[in-house]
Amino acid sequence: VRVEYLNYEVMADKLWELTDDDLFEKAADGGLTPEDYGEFYVRDSESLLEAAERQGYAWPFACRGGACTNCAVAVVEGEMPSPSSHILPKELHDRGIRLSCIVAPETDAKIVYNVKHLPAVQDLLL
Ligand code: FES
Repeated sequence: VRVEYLNYEVMADKLWELTDDDLFEKAADGGLTPEDYGEFYVRDSESLLEAAERQGYAWPFACRGGACTNCAVAVVEGEMPSPSSHILPKELHDRGIRLSCIVAPETDAKIVYNVKHLPAVQDLLL
């Protein structure tokens, strides 16, 4: 399945919000580098983080086991169910926050990575 991604740090610079309806249109037109915006395919056996790494991207992580939130992403569109064991509180999960080390998209998806810099996620960082 195909994943379109955007770096949260770019959004912070440009004052874009996760709730902007046209967020990915703005990203596509924003002249961003492939590191900050683009798309790739995730293989069946891969986590989202592993797929990003296979493209050569250095997305943040630490534990690789669903226990630290360094690898958090926000799912803007698409289905990405979490396994039962992870550290995210329900309200963040309900807002579409996922841990890229332990999830994989079930459908084509749009995600924002680097959301460990989102204040609500930062509170959880160990
Ligand atoms: Fe720690 Fe994913 S790297 S939760």
